Amino acid sequence: MSSGFGPCTGYLAPLGFLPQMQAELSAVVAVHERLVIAAGPPQTCVWAENIWYEVESVHAPSIGTAAKELKSRQRNWWPYAWHLHRRHALIQEKLPHVAAKPLHFPEAKPPSTLGSFALLDEQTLLLANRCSSPFPNGAPAFAEPSSPLPPSRAYLKLWETFTRLGIQPKPGERCIDLGASPGGWTWVLAHLGAEVTGYDRAPLDPSLLALPNVHGVIGDAFQTKPEKIGAIDWLFSDVICYPERMLAHIQEWRASGLCKNYVCTIKFQGDAHYGVIADLLRIEGSQLMHLHCNKHELTWVLLADQGPAVSL
Ligand SMILES: C[S@@+](CC[C@H](N)C(=O)[O-])C[C@H]1O[C@@H](n2cnc3c(N)ncnc32)[C@H](O)[C@@H]1O
Repeated sequence: MSSGFGPCTGYLAPLGFLPQMQAELSAVVAVHERLVIAAGPPQTCVWAENIWYEVESVHAPSIGTAAKELKSRQRNWWPYAWHLHRRHALIQEKLPHVAAKPLHFPEAKPPSTLGSFALLDEQTLLLANRCSSPFPNGAPAFAEPSSPLPPSRAYLKLWETFTRLGIQPKPGERCIDLGASPGGWTWVLAHLGAEVTGYDRAPLDPSLLALPNVHGVIGDAFQTKPEKIGAIDWLFSDVICYPERMLAHIQEWRASGLCKNYVCTIKFQGDAHYGVIADLLRIEGSQLMHLHCNKHELTWVLLADQGPAVSL
């Protein structure tokens, strides 16, 4: 698809966060429900759930033509069907099967690319061979955990982060988990074999405190001063606080040189505080993303070893 200025890129917003995503983008040429098309190469877009590279618009007067056009380009496709549901489903039936089964954490993400397509009307197909996410419409699905169950659904944020990045704490690595209660994140880290200290004003679930590699400290997470705690492999934070407060704490730890890796939720209230996004993006080597399971929040990650090529 050409806007008259060259190739276009598509950005799929998470459910409920289209305004945030649109505010980040320039040169927007069309908006199709949650899919925003903008002229030019990919722009930095932290709210996007999936990015469609080099979007094409194809005339496809029948279901058969649409399937043929898609199959001629590559094997794996997933529809973004915000309307014409039946027609999208009929096209999908004619394409090679894409399993898209829920992952059993810590199973690796699918290695193959997944293209995306959408019908603009009965005869016009929008498609992208390559997208930033290997998951259908950027949304990974996980099989439910087996018992002992985590004490909160927040475990999904770490499962998604580790799966997307292809990296996770190793057994024995020292982690601090700020804003840890009731303990979904601590549960994930403890089950990976890491040594975890959870800090919160509220206690951790007793089932976690019974584990030999989990310690709980009740109090203000921001009193976790680097010089008192010493060297750590990972700093995790899911504390509810103003984004600027989180940024200041990250900067304190970075200045100390005592922490190797960071995974921090940046929580927003209303649309104030978005200025912090640019400050976080300026931290070299770091990335900011909206996880599928994130609400009005972003996840900021900085890794000592970037590991394999990182995609959404
Ligand atoms: C979203 S919940 C964390 C959920 C947790 N990550 C889990 O996996 O179960 C946010 C937590 O931040 C804690 N919190 C907020 N401000 C805090 C502070 N200044 N110090 C310590 N904990 C704080 C709250 O008590 C709450 O438990």
